[in-house]
Amino acid sequence: MLDLNEYKFPVFDERLRLQENPSKAVLDFAAKIKAADGVLIVTPEYNGGYPASLKNVIDVLYDEWHRKPVAISTVSDGIFGGTQVITSLQFSLWKIRAWTVPAMFPVPKVKDSFDETGKPTDKTGTDKRAAGFIGELLWCVEARNKMST
Ligand SMILES: Cc1cc2nc3c(=O)[nH]c(=O)nc-3n(C[C@H](O)[C@H](O)[C@H](O)COP(=O)(O)O)c2cc1C
Repeated sequence: MLDLNEYKFPVFDERLRLQENPSKAVLDFAAKIKAADGVLIVTPEYNGGYPASLKNVIDVLYDEWHRKPVAISTVSDGIFGGTQVITSLQFSLWKIRAWTVPAMFPVPKVKDSFDETGKPTDKTGTDKRAAGFIGELLWCVEARNKMST
């Protein structure tokens, strides 16, 4: 679980591979993304797009994203579940050569959908939707692992 709020990265200045003295935090983050079989991004929608903190960590890496299966869950406090952010985020991930999973997991009215400990109010419905979403990510992870062996 990588919480960008805990990393508190500075605003993007230069890609990691071109930094002379990268911080321990950015090296740690890069190593975790590189080692991951796949990445599941959970992002809120800010004015129809992604928050700057998320774009920051996409841009700071490069090869680490290459062919990485990435699934996107979007969250909002309104009724649309952040469905506008997915198009711009998928495009940026595609540009950086990640492998975006086409399945979506929008979460509308997040404060009503989950309690403060992360438990869904509609467990059956949420589990069903999550199984389909995560199943697509795992399929991509497996396909990628087969291709690289
Ligand atoms: C600057 C800002 C812009 C937002 N823009 C949208 C938006 O375009 N669409 C939407 O559905 N929700 C929007 N929201 C609501 C967020 O998606 C919602 O607050 C979400 O839970 C984010 O969590 P946070 O406020 O803790 O960052 C916006 C919130 C903020 C703070």
